[in-house]
Amino acid sequence: MDRLAVEGGAPLFGKVRVSGAKNAALPLMAASILADGPLDLTNVPSLGDLKTMARLLTLMGGAVRASFRGDEGAGPEECLIDMRGLSVPEARHELVKTMRASALVLGPLLARHGRAVVSLPGGCAIGVRPIDMHLKALKEMGADFDISGGDIIARAPAGGLRGAAVNFPTVTVTGTENVMMAAALARGETVISNAAREPEVVDTGRALCAMGARIEGLGTGEIAVHGVPSLSGARYAVMSDRIEAGTLMAAVALAGGKVTLQGAPLASMAAVRDKFGEAGLYMSYEGDDLYLESPGGRLEAVNLVTMPHPGFPTDMQAQFMAAMCLASGVSIVTETIFENRFMHVAELRRLGADITLEGRSAVVKGVRHLSGAPLTASDLRASAGLLLAALAARGRSVVSRVYHLDRGYDRLDRKLNLLGARITREKE
Ligand code: EPZ
Repeated sequence: MDRLAVEGGAPLFGKVRVSGAKNAALPLMAASILADGPLDLTNVPSLGDLKTMARLLTLMGGAVRASFRGDEGAGPEECLIDMRGLSVPEARHELVKTMRASALVLGPLLARHGRAVVSLPGGCAIGVRPIDMHLKALKEMGADFDISGGDIIARAPAGGLRGAAVNFPTVTVTGTENVMMAAALARGETVISNAAREPEVVDTGRALCAMGARIEGLGTGEIAVHGVPSLSGARYAVMSDRIEAGTLMAAVALAGGKVTLQGAPLASMAAVRDKFGEAGLYMSYEGDDLYLESPGGRLEAVNLVTMPHPGFPTDMQAQFMAAMCLASGVSIVTETIFENRFMHVAELRRLGADITLEGRSAVVKGVRHLSGAPLTASDLRASAGLLLAALAARGRSVVSRVYHLDRGYDRLDRKLNLLGARITREKE
């Protein structure tokens, strides 16, 4: 296992290109199951979860061509996926336990092959994270399920899935994606009410349309999908990652400096831009380049409540909290999406942060400085928050279990070092 040793105190300067979005590439890779031809994805980031998805599709009998280079080489990946050879419509536990998003193959397998065996995703550090809403919606489309030995045994009716009026009691991102992909090949029309409006859902829908699907309402709370008999392959560029861009914004807010994010998805990150602007981070835009400049002194403490899109994304909560640890004043950070997404609080305290938990809120009292310490990552975005805080802490910090970070970022440590950070990757 790797760990990251950080010498804090170095401001960041220069330009860095934002990678493709993990949470768009994952459903897009699953969508290849639906196609009667190869799906050619470009601007694919090289990161752990996508390598896991590639392995899952290959184990199903698909052909996946992507170099997913290691640390060498730069620039985005191209990922060519041909699932016409699919022979094993199954996602087994040993893979699903490492990546819950494997459940995204359920809808496509039911729609294209009429059956699926998918290991019931377990919980993770940030919460129980059931998929009951996915199953209920697919059941309304005619699917039936048995749970046996920890696996979901799923079958579509003989004539295939049928369109349905689906309503999600709470917004679910991958639930919306699973149903949208299943509905693309279902008989008749499916209307998804209280649909997720996340940009990655929109990107998935756009790719499906490029494959021949008929979808309306993307980006709104009501998505209508008119089933078609088949979908073709396509070539599609994955949108850039608004969470990586936001993470780099938080890095500049904490470490200071002047950085240009190239290819930032500005239209997808209004809530994040607004919050960092309110805190005093200077921003200007030219095309899809976002110029950032820290105020030099302390940021202003601002309150935060995570919400489904277009609200402030929960995937940026840990990173924003890290930035508030050094702000002037008190910030109340409230997490409304997941029940246990404050695992980073205890670790931030080890750096000297002053944070108290009150139910679903964390009260962050800004301190003058943080001091380096050994830190342990617990989940993907917590590990990003800890790394950013270490950039601003005085002295040396070591963040262990960075496999969490490598699952969801395309060599974030390397990008930060290119901007002047002092991070060394070591073997634990
Ligand atoms: C997606 O997860 C993202 N993952 C998450 O990003 C992100 O945090 C989350 O959406 C919220 O934006 C991918 O897109 C691969 P949900 P997802 O279904 O779809 C509850 C990251 O860091 N729920 O929108 O699993 C659930 O427990 C990851 O990149 C049910 O109760 O999240 C949660 O409390 C972490 N039953 C809430 O809804 C269900 O059937 C929202 O979850 C489904 C969800």
